[in-house]
Amino acid sequence: MTRKITLAAALAAFAVLPTGVAQAQDAAAGEKTFRKCASCHSLEAGKRKVGPSLYGVIGRTAATTEGYKYSSPLTAAGEAGLVWDADNMAVYLADTNAFLKAYLEEKGVSAKGRSKMSFKLTKPEEQQNVIAYIESVAK
Ligand code: HEC
Repeated sequence: MTRKITLAAALAAFAVLPTGVAQAQDAAAGEKTFRKCASCHSLEAGKRKVGPSLYGVIGRTAATTEGYKYSSPLTAAGEAGLVWDADNMAVYLADTNAFLKAYLEEKGVSAKGRSKMSFKLTKPEEQQNVIAYIESVAK
């Protein structure tokens, strides 16, 4: 038996969640959740902190904000075609290293090192809300 998380399995786990990600109350709740991200992330375009700006991150290719030095696994994932959406970002937030490992394995790409984001947001509701909030700030 293997304990490896495949990206497909991780995404499938989220497919059973209720939809309605873009609802207004989710975004409002997500604004509070974003306080957990705000020590490392700004939502102002181009403003980097410990992490890159998250302005307009949904729909953008991973690891492509200007002037930010990303880890090699995230850079490799972006180069392999990872574009952030509500589904994959939720899986990423739950465990950045597991997500990147599964994604790169699926793409047949190898990358050394670990994700530079040492934070995990594990509650599905908080993930969905914070993503709705980030999306509502920059369309
Ligand atoms: C302790 C600091 C820290 C916290 C807290 C944090 N992050 Fe990050 N985040 C980072 C770093 C550093 C990176 C760059 C990762 C890399 O290069 O591997 C990153 C990268 C990201 C990326 C990829 C951005 C891109 O341009 O591809 C997303 C999306 C993201 N974080 C979302 C979040 C969200 C949402 C939260 C809050 C729930 C959060 N992060 C909390 C440090 C943090």
